[in-house]
Amino acid sequence: MDLGLDGDTALVTASSSGLGFASASALAAAGANVVICGRTPERLAAAESEMADTPGEVLAVETDLTAPTEVEALVDATVESFGGIDHVVTSAGGVPPGSFEDTDDQAWYGAYDTLVMSVVWTLRAARPHLTESPKGTVTAITSTSVAEPIENLILSNAVRRGVIGVIKSVARDWAPSIRANAVLPGAHETARIEELIEAGIERGDYESYQAGLDDWASAIPLDRIGDPTGFGQVVAFLASEPASFVNGVALPVDGGRLRG
Ligand SMILES: NC(=O)c1ccc[n+]([C@@H]2O[C@H](COP(=O)([O-])OP(=O)(O)OC[C@H]3O[C@@H](n4cnc5c(N)ncnc54)[C@H](OP(=O)(O)O)[C@@H]3O)[C@@H](O)[C@H]2O)c1
Repeated sequence: MDLGLDGDTALVTASSSGLGFASASALAAAGANVVICGRTPERLAAAESEMADTPGEVLAVETDLTAPTEVEALVDATVESFGGIDHVVTSAGGVPPGSFEDTDDQAWYGAYDTLVMSVVWTLRAARPHLTESPKGTVTAITSTSVAEPIENLILSNAVRRGVIGVIKSVARDWAPSIRANAVLPGAHETARIEELIEAGIERGDYESYQAGLDDWASAIPLDRIGDPTGFGQVVAFLASEPASFVNGVALPVDGGRLRG
């Protein structure tokens, strides 16, 4: 299937690793020019060189998504390099695990900046460029936590829902020139899942990393956690021409774990 992405420009935030990286790689493999970002220069450089053989060009921009001026500079750098923006994929870092009792105001506001305001700042700066594109798309990477709470992740459970509100709103307000969708990843084997399993080992929930992986997989009908590469291909599909009538959806990619 031709995704119709060849020569397009895609900005993918939080993309030097994990699900953002997989999404950027899938878009670049389909021929899009891709801008990736992250805070750590070494990780960003490693991601850029891993994508060196893709048909699309890759630009890596060091960015902290919790700083609005850096987000604006990221969008400016994308437009300066590639002349416009056709697709935006938003992701962000994970927020700290914890329960209601563990979580202070600073953590709540920090999670809001990381998860919600980073999307708001990115879309505010990118929207004029997406509007100029004949095929502008926004795809927000969130979590199954927006549909069903995940144990010991109160910040993700509560705050991420704001991103769904943004996507559902702009899918109507910015149509027909821009399509907007969300993707709800279930467990995928990335650094984030390693971090959550290690926190579980510290709490005494798991005896080992493998036991943690098995526990996450046991809740999934397909009996395994996800491969980030396949997740990235779903994101590239949502941005593509064949998905041109898909707008305003919140698509779980979770092996069937969500029941609702
Ligand atoms: N993996 C899963 O199973 C899963 C499931 C559901 C939801 N999610 C969510 O999906 C998102 C991505 O997860 P992941 O598994 O791909 O995580 P990951 O492998 O840890 O990657 C996170 C990426 O975000 C970048 N990043 C983090 N904070 C940033 C900031 N303030 N500014 C710019 N870049 C930043 C990181 O680079 P630097 O640290 O160098 O900045 C890295 O490139 C997270 O919000 C996570 O909670 C993941």
